[in-house]
Amino acid sequence: MTAAPPVQVQGLTKRYGETLAVDGVDLIVRPGEVYGFLGPNGAGKTTTLRILTGLIAPTSGRVEVLGGSPGQAQVLARTGSMIESPAFYPYLSGLDNLRLLAEYAEVPRTRVREVLELVDLAGRAKDRFSTYSLGMKQRLGVAAALLKDPELVILDEPTNGLDPAGMRDMRRLIRELGSEGRTVVLSSHLLGEVQQVCDRVGIINGGRMVAEHDVEELRGQQELVIRARPLESAHSVLREVLGAEAVHLYDDTVRAKVAPDRAAELNRLLVEAGIAVSELRSTERALEDVFFELTTEEKTNAG
Ligand SMILES: Nc1ncnc2c1ncn2[C@@H]1O[C@H](COP(=O)(O)OP(=O)(O)OP(=O)(O)O)[C@@H](O)[C@H]1O
Ligand SMILES: [Mg+2]
Repeated sequence: MTAAPPVQVQGLTKRYGETLAVDGVDLIVRPGEVYGFLGPNGAGKTTTLRILTGLIAPTSGRVEVLGGSPGQAQVLARTGSMIESPAFYPYLSGLDNLRLLAEYAEVPRTRVREVLELVDLAGRAKDRFSTYSLGMKQRLGVAAALLKDPELVILDEPTNGLDPAGMRDMRRLIRELGSEGRTVVLSSHLLGEVQQVCDRVGIINGGRMVAEHDVEELRGQQELVIRARPLESAHSVLREVLGAEAVHLYDDTVRAKVAPDRAAELNRLLVEAGIAVSELRSTERALEDVFFELTTEEKTNAG
């Protein structure tokens, strides 16, 4: 019973009039993992998470959450969620806001203090919600999601709008949740963020699941960006060494899929070939590049 996937989705579709917001999504979240739902604006992330939390009904498809249907009382009691900006009373303190929610959810009052500690908000708990920074508001939202000590935590873009320090704190908090044996499902449009906190990532684009990866796999996908003159010569030298598959020519750069520790060696080769290298840096590939590759790979394999 405990080994069953907390979230199982098959052929999930959600249509808003002409818009197919979610288009045949299959998804399995394993117990105890932090699962990242990654995709650009309008990809269908929030729509899917809304369905998982029972806020909206799917047009079609099979959705099972914690062995039941989303929105069922016994499922809701074991799920904590934060979908888009959480609503709190601005003139009440964070503490009083949570006390109200605790009362409503029939959670012991002592739990309020616990969750405030968890999200590191205990020091400001008595201040009015309206005086909180965006990061503090987000953390209070997560605290609210944790009140019921849920097995499954669903967070829609938990780092949205946070500054770098706020993002780092939120990532740490999510990793902590994941290490406590809870299952976490979150959405994000930042590949780097998902790589830092998630065990597995599902990439969604235009309502469709484009790919699913263990994050360890994605982490290996680094590349070198090279600016050089003549660029075409740099391109052909690198192709010779690394193979045509690994090297691509763009408008003003060449990009090579290769481990960053080979940068010095490749730089030497280029210079020896009489090429002027003005930049050679290692970068994590952008989400767009990953998308691009995944979609073109599919075509190549098919044909
Ligand atoms: N209530 C609604 N009525 C009509 N269309 C909607 C509604 N909610 C979402 N959509 C549409 O469904 C698609 C998916 O939206 P969704 O909010 O799920 O994307 P998202 O991945 O969460 O994007 P973002 O990164 O911007 O939050 C979009 O085209 C959006 O315009
Ligand atoms: Mg969204």
